[in-house]
Amino acid sequence: MSTNALLSLCGRKFSQKLGLHSLKTGLRVIRNQLENVKPFNKLKPSLKNLENFQQPLKYGFFIFSSCGVVLVKNSFALCEENRVKNRLAHYETLITSDDQLFDWKKLGELLAPDKWLLILAVACAIIVAIINIRIPLLIGELANIVSDYSGKRYIPGRFMERLKPPSFILLFLYCIQACFTTVYIATLAVVGEELATRMRQELFSSILKQDIAFFDTHKTGELINRLTTDVQDFKSAFKSCVSQGLKNVTQTAGCFVSLYMISPKMTALIGVILPAIIFAGSAIGTVLRVQSKKAHAQVEKSTSVADEAIGNIRTVRAFAMEEKEISLYNAELDKASVLNKQLGIGIGIFQGLSNLAINGIVLCVICVGGLLVQSQEISRGELLSFLVAAQTIQRSLGQLSLLLGHFVRGATAGNRVFEYIKLDPAVKLKGGITIPHHSLVTDIQFKDVTFSYPARPGHVVLKNFSLKIPPGKVVALCGISGSGKSTVATLLERFYDVKEGCITLDGHDIRTLDPSWLRGQVIGFISQEPVLFATSILENIRYGKPKASDKEVIEAAQMANAHDFIIAFPKGYATVLGERGVTISGGQKQRIAIARAFLKNPAILILDEATSALDAESEKIVQTALDKIVKGRTVLVIAHRLSTIQNADVIAVLADGIIAEMGTHEKLKIAKGLYWDLIKQQQTVEALKAKTPNKRQPPPTS
Ligand SMILES: Nc1ncnc2c1ncn2[C@@H]1O[C@H](COP(=O)(O)OP(=O)(O)O)[C@@H](O)[C@H]1O
Ligand SMILES: [Mg+2]
Repeated sequence: MSTNALLSLCGRKFSQKLGLHSLKTGLRVIRNQLENVKPFNKLKPSLKNLENFQQPLKYGFFIFSSCGVVLVKNSFALCEENRVKNRLAHYETLITSDDQLFDWKKLGELLAPDKWLLILAVACAIIVAIINIRIPLLIGELANIVSDYSGKRYIPGRFMERLKPPSFILLFLYCIQACFTTVYIATLAVVGEELATRMRQELFSSILKQDIAFFDTHKTGELINRLTTDVQDFKSAFKSCVSQGLKNVTQTAGCFVSLYMISPKMTALIGVILPAIIFAGSAIGTVLRVQSKKAHAQVEKSTSVADEAIGNIRTVRAFAMEEKEISLYNAELDKASVLNKQLGIGIGIFQGLSNLAINGIVLCVICVGGLLVQSQEISRGELLSFLVAAQTIQRSLGQLSLLLGHFVRGATAGNRVFEYIKLDPAVKLKGGITIPHHSLVTDIQFKDVTFSYPARPGHVVLKNFSLKIPPGKVVALCGISGSGKSTVATLLERFYDVKEGCITLDGHDIRTLDPSWLRGQVIGFISQEPVLFATSILENIRYGKPKASDKEVIEAAQMANAHDFIIAFPKGYATVLGERGVTISGGQKQRIAIARAFLKNPAILILDEATSALDAESEKIVQTALDKIVKGRTVLVIAHRLSTIQNADVIAVLADGIIAEMGTHEKLKIAKGLYWDLIKQQQTVEALKAKTPNKRQPPPTS
């Protein structure tokens, strides 16, 4: 169970105790008052039973001692934070502005399809509350009858006659209440589920449509957290706020009307004290909201640690960093736990104070009510009705104060979900010009492109970069690592938009072209580390063309030299791959990626160091597959191993964000410039590798 869940469980336990405490106090007061009203002495044992329900005082001590422990622990955690430098040192907790108001409009839009169900739920909840208001009055009526016939005045026949009508009405109301309760809880559950599903769908769709720059600055763990925990928190808060909140607000308002009808004087007394309490409550609520945001952001941070560690488990294992990752996660989780505990304690204190205030009101009512009974301004039955109604108000307000905690968490979670739902990407996925297939020439030009990544605006990667990739030709890019080769490919795919200069396809600026047409139908991309999904090989290849038949998939695999190794697996094409394709070798993964590209059949192909992660043997097989796929296409090949680009039509050497040299392999070799240096460097490295034996010699034994 998550710390959050545990904490909220603890919070609920506290609240229940506190709520029961106030109930108990109220009941005790009523019992004492009833001692003076003789006919009700019979009711005493049952009230006493309720009173013995809990032993609340010890919890007060527990809360205050926990406050102390948490505060001390928190200060330790903060000291630790200053000392420990870890891979999270530069993690920015993405807390949206604290004064952000809850977006009711967005909630309205999400609820619109279920508005009738919601109205039904709300109506039923209000009916239940109204019935709850009627009940105290009927109980008062019954009490007056019992009082009238108590002692010497008891007349058997007439007593039952008078008792029957209010009793039957009460029974009828109880039955109706049960029906409406069932309806509103069931409909609300349906509305809540629909709302959560819609929120998740919209959020996921919005996240997937964001610019690549968005993913440079947002961690997967954080996004997944919003998709799961935040939606869950919002749903449960929404349900409880609508059902309990609405019911309790209606009950409070209705009971106030009843109170006014019984005794305007006493109602005025309550009316004076209550606004002050509400004002203080909302002030504390604001503080709790800020605390809740901080706690959420910290939970998110710890989730991203877990997400990165689990996602990169092989790297973690290879560096034997398990213990470090565990302690990093524990430390972040501890901080989240401290913040959540503080929030829980804040909510506890708030509820404690509100119970104290509410109980104070009840006490005032009883004292003033007693005086009014004595001066015969109200009857004993009316005093009982008043007390039961006041008790209903007390209970409702107690529950409303509990709900505030839920509301705070829910509103924070909801805002975090809405924030990303409303976020518009700079580059829309769809919309723009498409060039008909028959007139697509694939003439690509980079014209004076200057580019920095949005995540690192000060670092210029390409400076006035210009390059022509003529139709049907193979243009190779080489250069040292970090010189900007992959950036060129990324810009052509339009993962980022250039701010200075432009990139054109057949004379059209690619910013005017439909991005999904460009990526989905025109450009094929094979990277160094192809990413496969945890599904069958068949489906992984079909990703290149979702409508392809099994036969087409198999043909593509044959073209990519992948068919033989696939059918050698016991389940052949139905073999399910591990997450990100971890259960097959690099060379096999790459051939599946090539098969995917064959199926997609793009006019333009980008190969970004497609063979550089492979050993010499796999490289040969993959290279033959690549040689087949490049035929008849316009190709941008980025190469680490220069031997693979010797046959390119043009080779461009990238240095410091510009093209330093350009020409054919032969021409560049003769020029003895940067390209020549790169070849020399590589030859030296390869010669060294050849000399170094594969396995270390064991140390001499004698
Ligand atoms: N998403 C990114 N955000 C910020 N900077 C990046 C990003 N990707 C690459 N860079 C930086 O851009 C420069 C060029 O990177 P890249 O094009 O990947 O080089 P190459 O492919 O030639 O090795 C490097 O300095 C790199 O650190
Ligand atoms: Mg690269």
